Amino acid sequence: MSESNNQVRENISMLGGILGDTLLRHEGQKLLDRVEKIRKLAKKAHKHKDETARQELIEALHEIPDSELLPVTRAFSKFLNLVNIAEQHHDISRFCADGVCRQDSVQALIQKLRTADIPREEIIAAVDNLSMELVLTAHPTEVTRRTLINKQAKIVDSLLKLELKDLTEAEKNEAKQTIERLICQGWNTNEFRAARPTPVDEAKWGFNVVEHSLWQAIPEFVRELDETLHDELDIYLPVNAAPVRIGSWMGGDRDGNPFVTHNVTREVLLIARSIAARLYVRDLTALMDELSVSCCTKEVRELVDDAAEPYWAIMRKLIADLKATQKWIDGQLEGKKDQGKNIITRSEQIMQPLLLIYNSLVACDLQLIADGELRNVIRRVAAFGVHLVKLDIRQDGERHMLAISELTNYLEIGDYASWSEDDKQAFLIRELKSKRPLVPLDWQPSADTQEVLDTCKVVAETDPNSLGIYIISMAKQASDVLAVLLLLKEAGCKFKIPVAPLFETLDDLERAGDVIERLLGIEWYREHIQDSQHVMIGYSDSAKDAGMFAATWAQYRAQETLVEIGDRHNLKMVLFHGRGGTVGRGGAPAHTALLSQPPGSLKGGLRVTEQGEMIRFKFGLPQAAQNNLRLYASAILEGNLLPPPSPKEEWRELIAEIAKDSCEEYRGIVRGHKDFVPYFRAATPELELGKLPLGSRPSKRKPDGGVESLRAIPWIFSWMQNRLMLPVWLGAGDGLGNAIKNGKQPLLEEMCQQWPFFRARIGLLEMVFLKSDIWLAEYYDRTLVPESLWGLGQSLRDRLQEAIDLVVKINPEHGLLLDEPGILGSIQTRAAYTNPLNLLQAELLKRSRMAKDEPGEIVEKSLMITIAGVAAGMRNTG
Ligand code: PGA
Repeated sequence: MSESNNQVRENISMLGGILGDTLLRHEGQKLLDRVEKIRKLAKKAHKHKDETARQELIEALHEIPDSELLPVTRAFSKFLNLVNIAEQHHDISRFCADGVCRQDSVQALIQKLRTADIPREEIIAAVDNLSMELVLTAHPTEVTRRTLINKQAKIVDSLLKLELKDLTEAEKNEAKQTIERLICQGWNTNEFRAARPTPVDEAKWGFNVVEHSLWQAIPEFVRELDETLHDELDIYLPVNAAPVRIGSWMGGDRDGNPFVTHNVTREVLLIARSIAARLYVRDLTALMDELSVSCCTKEVRELVDDAAEPYWAIMRKLIADLKATQKWIDGQLEGKKDQGKNIITRSEQIMQPLLLIYNSLVACDLQLIADGELRNVIRRVAAFGVHLVKLDIRQDGERHMLAISELTNYLEIGDYASWSEDDKQAFLIRELKSKRPLVPLDWQPSADTQEVLDTCKVVAETDPNSLGIYIISMAKQASDVLAVLLLLKEAGCKFKIPVAPLFETLDDLERAGDVIERLLGIEWYREHIQDSQHVMIGYSDSAKDAGMFAATWAQYRAQETLVEIGDRHNLKMVLFHGRGGTVGRGGAPAHTALLSQPPGSLKGGLRVTEQGEMIRFKFGLPQAAQNNLRLYASAILEGNLLPPPSPKEEWRELIAEIAKDSCEEYRGIVRGHKDFVPYFRAATPELELGKLPLGSRPSKRKPDGGVESLRAIPWIFSWMQNRLMLPVWLGAGDGLGNAIKNGKQPLLEEMCQQWPFFRARIGLLEMVFLKSDIWLAEYYDRTLVPESLWGLGQSLRDRLQEAIDLVVKINPEHGLLLDEPGILGSIQTRAAYTNPLNLLQAELLKRSRMAKDEPGEIVEKSLMITIAGVAAGMRNTG
């Protein structure tokens, strides 16, 4: 066991001990004994995998009286959260910061680039182009309440404090007591919110992460990057460089979420600006102290009319304007309509005076002062502007089509929806070129169409700097993009917001290149977009549609094609990755994910979604955010300067075969097996998941739709709960199995060793296999599934075992993550807590489903806690 893993274990055991004391204090010895007994039995059952130990565990769980169900499930769930806290702390601990875990820093990368003889100028050019846009989304996967998240962050803070070497006994005790207090508070706080969050609540949650973490982390990260660049390359970034920007979907993503209306979008945009104004007032007020200096340039002196403290004079005016701006925005939020005075609407209004001060200090030989807090504030203005985040808008392509169809029907020029793609495009281009409006003033469309038009109006009225891009989900054809451009034109939009098609089914990914090629072939369009095109790649829906192997290969090829098209047309192709946190949704460790993409795909920088609980894990604390920014930065630079190899022709042929076979197996079961849907409904908590108040969005695209309309998140979440993890591996058995049968094992081994894309796929499968549990999945079947469907369950588990054996076969030395003791240890530690929750969940699901009326509060609540607990235990899989 390495020193690094020891640190995590020690903290887990300390936190677990405190939780035990809390249980004793609040629930008594009897309950603590019960929890301890179950934990030990679960550990034994997991370790020895023998039937007797398992039966003992099941019996111990059956003995729990109703009155103890809730505290027992809560205890196990709380413990898993404490494990997550210990691991989160470890990632940002001083132990890691001292360099032990920091293999992926920009500094290490530059040294690697030098060894690889990459010329200095090339490195500098890549650094100049470094661009990371992290887009926070409101995807409903965060099961932890905000108040509990805040407590967890404070526990991490105390763990950091406890690491300090020269802490006195009194200081140590104080830090420990704080942890005890926080765990006690957590024990006495409800796990779930009483009501679902609204989209505005979700946006506020996102803004909270920006305010309390990214606001600090981004300038710190840029400062550190700057120092590295100076040490290693003797260059500095421009003082107003913005290699990182934050986007958001919270309050802007209306795809399948009827609660995100145009009014919500307008409100969220205003709230973001108000927060930004408040934060600048706070920062500038603090900065005043540093700028009491009198030396300044002539330009400044003249501007401030010879004031004794010239910088204060500039800052006072700026602060006053920002306060007026905040007041005005708050008035707008209350419905006031006045124009306001001295309102700050553009970042240059803040940036320009700050740069003036900066340059003046430098001219006075006071670089030291200029590079203090002032430089941080300048970098914030560069990163966050006056809008805090850039809001994307997302809407389903079908909604645009229906809106235009309703219009053409009203105008009696035909039914747009039924026209051929060629006719649609011809019509749209004609109207886009036309000078007259198409929408009649007195037209009264349906409520749905009106909402689409109103959203476009909100876009048109908004400062383009507050907006990111407009995304069309389920995009299929060039007309999907042109339709949005027409709707925006009709709404009076005077600026060009990038419109990005989101390709998210297997067919659509395969067609992505043709669609973009077709668009670029339209002279009007090519001129309109000028020199850049955004395209979004959908990870989870494509996996739900075709299985992981086929989807990832299609994503890879779509990116390759798009990069080639961008080069050929001499335009910047910005690929936007719609990844979730779990493997089934495209999630992977940042470095692995980025370096397994096709060569050239990071040329346009990185634009990626950050979602749900991953926002908390990766960006919820300033130090964690800094770590992740470092990881992203070094992976992007590496991807651009030392690109992964292009796959050999024989690798491509083989992976194409694997993708085809695995898609057939996956679809054969998911779409083709008559028992599949009833089995899914019975064996997983799909229906019960809907009761968790996780997010504002409904779980289905269409309220009365079936499994095909179920969103990818609940689909994956459900299979994660019963530990079958089906969406991640189903298909891998036939895909890999046929390749081996056809004598391709040596080639598979070569691909595993030499091709980062393939290695990443196999590595992620290994992790998911380790978290899957065939025995538990079978227990769900026996407890919940009608006997007539057991055959399907057994065949799925056989397929899972077969896929596991095949993966071990092509990567024997690696085993299942044998070379990753940290991950292995983490999974094993969690098993003693997650497995009892799974067993209890199956029982509670049974009771809840069999109850004639409502199942009763205890059952219902305990069930929800098992769901949240298993999710915490699985952390990053599904
Ligand atoms: P979507 O995303 O359903 O919003 O397209 C799915 C996901 O993030 O997994």
